[in-house]
Amino acid sequence: MPTTLRQVLRLPKTLLAIWKIVKQDYAVAALDENLWTFWGFYQDPEQPHCRSRTWQKVKLALIGPQDVVGLPVSELALMMNVSMELEEPILEYSSQNGEGFRFLLPNLARFMGINREEADYAAAHGLAWCQSPWCAEERRHAGAFARMIERLTKTSPRRDNPNRPMIVTPEEEDAVRLVLSREAAEWNSSSTYIVMAAHAKGYLGDLLRNVARDEIKHLTILSAADQYLFGPRPWRRFVDLVRNSLREFGGQKKNRTGGQHMGTNAVTAVEVIVSHLLTESCVRRWLRTIPLATLESIFETQSNLSDLAARALPPDRQAQLEETSRKGREKRFSLARWAPGSRHKALEQRAFEQHTAQSIEKTIAAEIGAFTGAETPGSRMDGELRRKIRNRSTGMLRTILLGRLRDFQIRNNRYLLSRDQAA
Ligand SMILES: [Fe+2]
Ligand SMILES: [Fe+2]
Repeated sequence: MPTTLRQVLRLPKTLLAIWKIVKQDYAVAALDENLWTFWGFYQDPEQPHCRSRTWQKVKLALIGPQDVVGLPVSELALMMNVSMELEEPILEYSSQNGEGFRFLLPNLARFMGINREEADYAAAHGLAWCQSPWCAEERRHAGAFARMIERLTKTSPRRDNPNRPMIVTPEEEDAVRLVLSREAAEWNSSSTYIVMAAHAKGYLGDLLRNVARDEIKHLTILSAADQYLFGPRPWRRFVDLVRNSLREFGGQKKNRTGGQHMGTNAVTAVEVIVSHLLTESCVRRWLRTIPLATLESIFETQSNLSDLAARALPPDRQAQLEETSRKGREKRFSLARWAPGSRHKALEQRAFEQHTAQSIEKTIAAEIGAFTGAETPGSRMDGELRRKIRNRSTGMLRTILLGRLRDFQIRNNRYLLSRDQAA
């Protein structure tokens, strides 16, 4: 039987496998934990899981072609090769993030990289350049793909075809473009790695899930940052993501080794598209539940980290940077980038919440039992409290109470899958 026909016949099984992975790794509790580790990086820096997501242990030596399911080994290896080349230039990506986001969202800048003065200092003093969680997580991906390719094909892939990442500045337009392009890249990588994982078993599947979960964490954080910066905008966000992804896809087809084969297997293309749609629908549903106040407290959290050493700047330049940072903070707090309708609604809710803070706290303590027992989204207690809130309140108060329940769940999330599974 031709291999494509075999893949067509197996399509329902593959799609089911994709769905099972998405259901587990995009569960509300899993996404909550991903987001909360951003806060943890600043507030609990000693926690290794917040510095770099814990991986499930795998035995590389036991990985082999027998672990590939429903796809020719050469095709999975080709997908891995494209991914490896894309993952390679993390140093450049990381300086783009640190410099690009420094005014747009400084905490995201440090979470994902280092700015120009910090990079200069690190280079001049031979310091480790990769101190951000994003970087620590990303830098293990290209190597993981190279090892998997070696185990599957018995040949070492060439690692001399790196990307040429674009130059970005911290100017508003560049920074916004960078957020969207990173968000699209995390969406594409997580959705594609899930398809690969659906075609793998044993330690090969576990290793692919490790890499995919890192990408899901990054997608979670960038999607939440998108909502914080630009407001709720499900369809416009989707259009931005698709547009960026198509542009990226065209570029990879041209530049990657074996890129011309990308998208030529119609069955794999269907699997990848379905995976994208499933992951997007989960992220979108999750985003809808995250209150602005939670996003604000996470993305603007004070830092317990010591400052990174940086090249000294002349005082007037330093003062200029501080002034731009202050303006950036103001812009975020006033929701200046939001669509007028949602900004108006959100500011109204913020004012209402401030005026009624005491009575809201009383209601939560007396009538909703301070949310105790409802830590896990989707649990029996979660359902009970939601019903109670819906029965006893209406309008803005109901929205605020449901938002407070979600805030409580994010802060007290119990989803420690990666830690539990690490032997
Ligand atoms: Fe990656
Ligand atoms: Fe990533």
